[in-house]
Amino acid sequence: MERGGFAGNRPILKIEMTQCSHPNTPPQNAAQASAAIKVAVMPLFSTWIYRCEHGPVHLNAGLEELTARLRTDERNSTRRTNAGGWHYAFDLFELQEPVVEEFRAVMEQHVQAFLNHFRPEGKKKRDTFRLRGWINVNRAGHSNLLHCHPGCFLSATYYVRVPEGMKGGEIYFRDPRGPAVAMYETPGIDLPWVGTGVGVPIAPATGHLLIFPSWLEHRVERFEGEGERISIAFNATNA
Ligand SMILES: [Fe+2]
Repeated sequence: MERGGFAGNRPILKIEMTQCSHPNTPPQNAAQASAAIKVAVMPLFSTWIYRCEHGPVHLNAGLEELTARLRTDERNSTRRTNAGGWHYAFDLFELQEPVVEEFRAVMEQHVQAFLNHFRPEGKKKRDTFRLRGWINVNRAGHSNLLHCHPGCFLSATYYVRVPEGMKGGEIYFRDPRGPAVAMYETPGIDLPWVGTGVGVPIAPATGHLLIFPSWLEHRVERFEGEGERISIAFNATNA
């Protein structure tokens, strides 16, 4: 809070700042009896990402075994956003495999938890949606180009295996407010709405899960290191 007074012959405003979470929700804790000018700041257009560091790692061995089995048939491989690497060509969740069934059951609960986060207590419910997924395997030098996932409402990545000591390999989410964010002037502080234009990296780790709005553009950085980076990506659509 700024103290009231004068600087030279200009009055200094006494400003009490609060932060509210919604433009139509008035700030609750502004001092009513104060003579201060009350203002509020509010974040608008926040992008929500669901991050779980405790995914179903007990399924990883089975998922890796399935991946190895699928890779023995070259008809299962396709090229989408991947620059190098292996990309499963079909819907993983259509496979009649116990490990896939269990994986789907866990992922559905995570998607449901994310959706219900935005409902008030007493309004949480079970939604009807469908997951479609695929496996990605990247080795050193492979990457995935910038893209988003049209035709669905949430997308996700679960990391089955991230090599020890991997350098790079992050998923980069691009600032969705457009390239202009890289052009703003700043008065010398890190303003929360000024981006670099290149995106925010999130380093993967075995067993981690990210769920994000399908329109949020992302790419996967190439990496250096031994071994394979195995992930399962999936989309949620209205069933
Ligand atoms: Fe993607």
